[in-house]
Amino acid sequence: MKTDKKMPQVDMILRREGLSRDSLIQVLHAVQEDMGYLPKDVLVYISSKMNIPLSVIHGVVTFYNFFKTAKDAEHVIMVCMGTACYVKNAAGVLKAIEEYLGIKAGEVTKDGKYSLRMVRCLGACGMAPVISVDGKDVYGRLTPEKVIEVLQKYK
Ligand code: FES
Repeated sequence: MKTDKKMPQVDMILRREGLSRDSLIQVLHAVQEDMGYLPKDVLVYISSKMNIPLSVIHGVVTFYNFFKTAKDAEHVIMVCMGTACYVKNAAGVLKAIEEYLGIKAGEVTKDGKYSLRMVRCLGACGMAPVISVDGKDVYGRLTPEKVIEVLQKYK
């Protein structure tokens, strides 16, 4: 098995919470609290130690939306693809951001600086098309050109 410097922490959690299937959610919670997210190699390690198929662990992790399998980026960009935004060229705005950052929606830039997500409605339909940055700044009436100016503020 691949060893990793994170694993002693995971072993400690497993000793504390126990190896039975019933402990899986507590184990995942404790690991996420400790590391901030659930890295893939750690899930593989937990799977072998607890003797639970990786597919079952993945199922649990994706079912509960409080589990994260990637570190949060420094800046989280959410692009609204709800109907009001969509008809005002949200797809063009998204494409401009993807090209600017070199990632697709759902991905994080290699330097961990930006993550890009699509969302259903940001509740600001009157300002469509809309994006939000870091969950607090909302920008509306965007064009593919304007959105790049917005992103340049987040270095
Ligand atoms: S549809 Fe985009 S803010 Fe509501």
